[in-house]
Amino acid sequence: MNLPPEALTAKGAAQARVRVQAPRPYDVLIAPGLLEGLGEFLREMGLLVPHRRLFLAHDAGLPAEIVETAAVSLHAAGGRLSRSAVEAGESAKTMAGAERLLVEMAASRHERRDCVVALGGGIVGDVAGFAAAIYRRGVPIVQCPTTLLAMVDAAVGGKTAVNLAVEGSLKKNLIGAFHQPRLVIADVSVLRTLPDRQFRCGLAECIKHGMIGVEFGEPALLEWIEAAAPALLARDEAKLVELVSRNVALKAAVVGLDEREEAEDGGRALLNLGHTFGHAVETVEGAIGEGTRAPGIHHGEAVALGLIAATRCAEESGACPRELKLTERVRALIQRCGLPRSAAGLPSDEELLARMAHDKKVMGGILRLVLPTGPGRAALFADPPRQAVLAGLQAIRAGGAAGC
Ligand code: GLY
Repeated sequence: MNLPPEALTAKGAAQARVRVQAPRPYDVLIAPGLLEGLGEFLREMGLLVPHRRLFLAHDAGLPAEIVETAAVSLHAAGGRLSRSAVEAGESAKTMAGAERLLVEMAASRHERRDCVVALGGGIVGDVAGFAAAIYRRGVPIVQCPTTLLAMVDAAVGGKTAVNLAVEGSLKKNLIGAFHQPRLVIADVSVLRTLPDRQFRCGLAECIKHGMIGVEFGEPALLEWIEAAAPALLARDEAKLVELVSRNVALKAAVVGLDEREEAEDGGRALLNLGHTFGHAVETVEGAIGEGTRAPGIHHGEAVALGLIAATRCAEESGACPRELKLTERVRALIQRCGLPRSAAGLPSDEELLARMAHDKKVMGGILRLVLPTGPGRAALFADPPRQAVLAGLQAIRAGGAAGC
């Protein structure tokens, strides 16, 4: 499809379109003001024909004007719209949360070719995406991410999931399906209202992308983020369009090569750089990240800590030459982006190792870690030396990072 007409975006505003080469290719449109034309985009793509039903699942916490802009546009394009507000907490990302959406879709007489529109962050996109994947064995979905993290990662690539409580512990994303969207609309003007902490969490995923960019067409992304960090933090719109489009292009390249995370040499699994260490600290009750007052480590903050831990572990294990001083560089960028470099209140090494052993990349009881091998490069390593993993954990303990 063509990029939106000039009238839909502020005059002269930056805009971009990235094609994702999934089995059914689709576009990611990136520009300010796109939600105003949402209905028109769906109509152009044949996803909205007059009198066809639409189901809009939106984050209950979004500013009302963002939801109204999308709803008015869908309505004006002729859609018979049903709406559902989703609480954007991990508690909504459950089978019960998905079931609620499915019941509402059925009650609204949503049919096989009717489209679901997900408007919100990663949680709304995941649970609405999962509902769309299983309702009548799959109905079309358009993802409209409203957080930086969802724009650069969650909304692109077709992963949908809910969590499952197993014997008292919450297993994240245990139930899910690959269900590629038909279109992704990233309206960067909504990032203006995103709380600072959430915005910075999105930057952590961008730094991660910068650390694997060489193989996926973005060899200079890390340097670019280093230079652009002040403008990004000031939410300069043109820089945000460039940030989102470069990150989406990278993710599209990864997904185009390995849609279902099956590649032997890493492939899509490389997107998990920092996540195995990160997941171990993310769920620790009472842990406090550097620079935050309230206990609790958000996902993007855990990824930032995980990137430092993985880089330190890579240096210690020999995967990444120490003379490149990559840990120092990653720590400096994470600080520059206002993300934590360490956390207080972490449990013992043994407990953290046990948490890492539950990671989804453990295979046959063997821990597999994505580790950087140089700037912009990473690889998957099976059974890394225990001492190296412990050095990674030590690097993110408050007061324990000296010498990294
Ligand atoms: N967020 C990781 C992936 O999409 O594979």
